[in-house]
Amino acid sequence: MSRLSGAFRRRMAGCAGLGLAVLLTPATLAEDAGNLYNTAVDIRMGERYFERQCSRCHGFDATGNDETGAPDLTGRLTRGSTDVAIFNIIRDGIPGTAMLPVAADVPDPEVWQVVAYLDSLRYDPGSVVLAGNAEAGNELFWNGSDCADCHMVNGRGSRNGPDLSRVGENRTPDDLLADMVNPQENVAPRWWRLRITGPDGVSREGYRMNEDSFSLRIMDDEENLWSIPKDSLQSYERIEDSTMPGYAQTLSESELDDLVAYLFSLRREEI
Ligand code: HEC
Ligand code: HEC
Repeated sequence: MSRLSGAFRRRMAGCAGLGLAVLLTPATLAEDAGNLYNTAVDIRMGERYFERQCSRCHGFDATGNDETGAPDLTGRLTRGSTDVAIFNIIRDGIPGTAMLPVAADVPDPEVWQVVAYLDSLRYDPGSVVLAGNAEAGNELFWNGSDCADCHMVNGRGSRNGPDLSRVGENRTPDDLLADMVNPQENVAPRWWRLRITGPDGVSREGYRMNEDSFSLRIMDDEENLWSIPKDSLQSYERIEDSTMPGYAQTLSESELDDLVAYLFSLRREEI
């Protein structure tokens, strides 16, 4: 069966009013057949295309980019999760956003290869078998360790670190383990801190909240906000280390496994 192009489908839809509606059937069948371009070679071609055309916004590993506002494509997609929906997003773009359609002369099979590549990045979380126990991890997170001093899950906890309410959607179990064992790796600029000494001579450390021409605001560990006039700063230093301690020594392997299972279970409710 041949794959019908988006443009062809649109043309057919335009013809429907002319009594040619019956021609729409093959298009529907083609959609149901799923992606016909999903061999290992297709996936590799799709990846190459992605690196050339998409990575500047979505990032090389497709995990998104805060600056461009391009979302992470490795978890569940918000605009549609079927192959056809993803195909159409790439073919047609998302009107009114930076997500533009691919060039009209890009043949459909190439777009399907990109779909295959994106599919290869996502996987069914239900099928992942983990060594740890999510219940035990939940208990450890809230009562047996200090995670909640910094993290928030579903409105509970603290804002001294990223909100983890949906961390399981975007991080693999291996990523989550690495997050706990090597927190100093890849600290996002959002979590860099400032150490500043104000007019009172006291040195304070905190996340940079905002800044204008005249003052700088930081939030310290107790979630106090400090606003310091810039012309009175006595010292200013940026700290790119994470505040998060590494847990390789303080937690056992099975405790880390339990936490991974708990964190991996944190995702949006099924829609
Ligand atoms: C100029 C920046 C830019 C480029 C280049 C770009 N995108 Fe996007 N993309 C975006 C933005 C921004 C959004 C979010 C739009 C929105 O929903 O508001 C988006 C959304 C998407 C979505 C929907 C995500 C979801 O959660 O539903 C997919 C899929 C996608 N892009 C794939 C691609 C692919 C594949 C390419 C390369 C062919 C690409 N994008 C190139 C900026 C870009
Ligand atoms: C002192 C504060 C602090 C404590 C305690 C802490 N974290 Fe973190 N955590 C952070 C900060 C800040 C980041 C973001 C910077 C980074 O990547 O290290 C982070 C990042 C993470 C991430 C990656 C999140 C993402 O979206 O990339 C995970 C997962 C995580 N922490 C889990 C834990 C767990 C589980 C515990 C308890 C065993 C814990 N943290 C304890 C501050 C903390």
